[in-house]
Amino acid sequence: MGLKIIEARHINIDNKIENEYFENIVDTSSVWIESRTGIKSRFFTDKRGYDMAIETVKLFKNSLRNLDLIIVASFTTRMRAPSVAASINEFIGGDKNILCFDLNMACSGFMGAVILAEKYLEIGGKALIIATEKISDFLNFKDRSSCVLFGDGAAGVLVEKNNKLWEHIVGTFPGIEALNVNENSLIEMDGKKVYRFASVNVTIAIEDLLKKCRIMPQEIDYYLLHQANIRIINQVLEKLKIKSNKTMTNIDRYGNTSAASIPILISENFHKFNEKDKIVIAGFGAGLSIAAVLMEW
Ligand code: ACO
Repeated sequence: MGLKIIEARHINIDNKIENEYFENIVDTSSVWIESRTGIKSRFFTDKRGYDMAIETVKLFKNSLRNLDLIIVASFTTRMRAPSVAASINEFIGGDKNILCFDLNMACSGFMGAVILAEKYLEIGGKALIIATEKISDFLNFKDRSSCVLFGDGAAGVLVEKNNKLWEHIVGTFPGIEALNVNENSLIEMDGKKVYRFASVNVTIAIEDLLKKCRIMPQEIDYYLLHQANIRIINQVLEKLKIKSNKTMTNIDRYGNTSAASIPILISENFHKFNEKDKIVIAGFGAGLSIAAVLMEW
């Protein structure tokens, strides 16, 4: 059993922040940011995570009626109750027999939601998975090693169950001190630790995922990886001996949008995927955590 992504959408945010912006705030340079991370710009918005989620929902052209499940992945929404997912259901005038919840797995959140949806849905059922991140609210603009990395964003997918190839893998590793939101609601990160974790363990997770399916790395058509740092993406692909034309990136324009990064990538490239394409999609982040799937499009 697997999941078919029927539709994918992402919002556009007007307020583009170039690397130069940070030169006036912290001791950094545009050249350093771009060369160490691959990031040229990101977007910061004044809107709430909830508003970005609703804006994303409005972009779905197919009917959002008869949904069985709505999951909102985010670590930055301020809404404690009701969940953003339940509010989306109210907004679309959805059915009452529907499971709605928000999920916080930071940058692994969208893929965690996808894995749960695949397990929950029966044949014929549909789920809406939205990721919304207003990370600019949680940035420490005195910490040059973290504030330059992140951007705001929101995107989502409409999915239903199918009978195609599907396998998943998850991982939760010690790492509270590596990446967390502190008591002042600011992101604290040991970049080196997160970098090492990601380049080593994401590679191992993907290798294990491929082994489970008896598929060689080269047989995969696309590798979609969480957009945290272009060097992490390149290292993972190098270790798997995969050419860079098998991946898609947008970190240069968006920075790290946490849970929203993968659905933005899927939405931007939706028209490029063909039936029978084999795709590995991997999220990783705070936890430290990994959530990845191998799917046939
Ligand atoms: N501008 C200039 N210099 C900087 C900056 C900056 N913005 N940030 C750090 N430096 C300095 C450091 O202070 C250090 O200086 P020092 O040698 O005098 O001590 C030097 O640059 C090298 O620092 P490193 O940490 O070794 O730099 P590195 O090449 O590892 O890059 C980075 C740092 C970009 C943070 C990298 O480690 C990284 O991308 N890590 C992963 C981060 C990540 O993916 N986080 C999100 C996870 S997803 C989630 O769940 C939210």
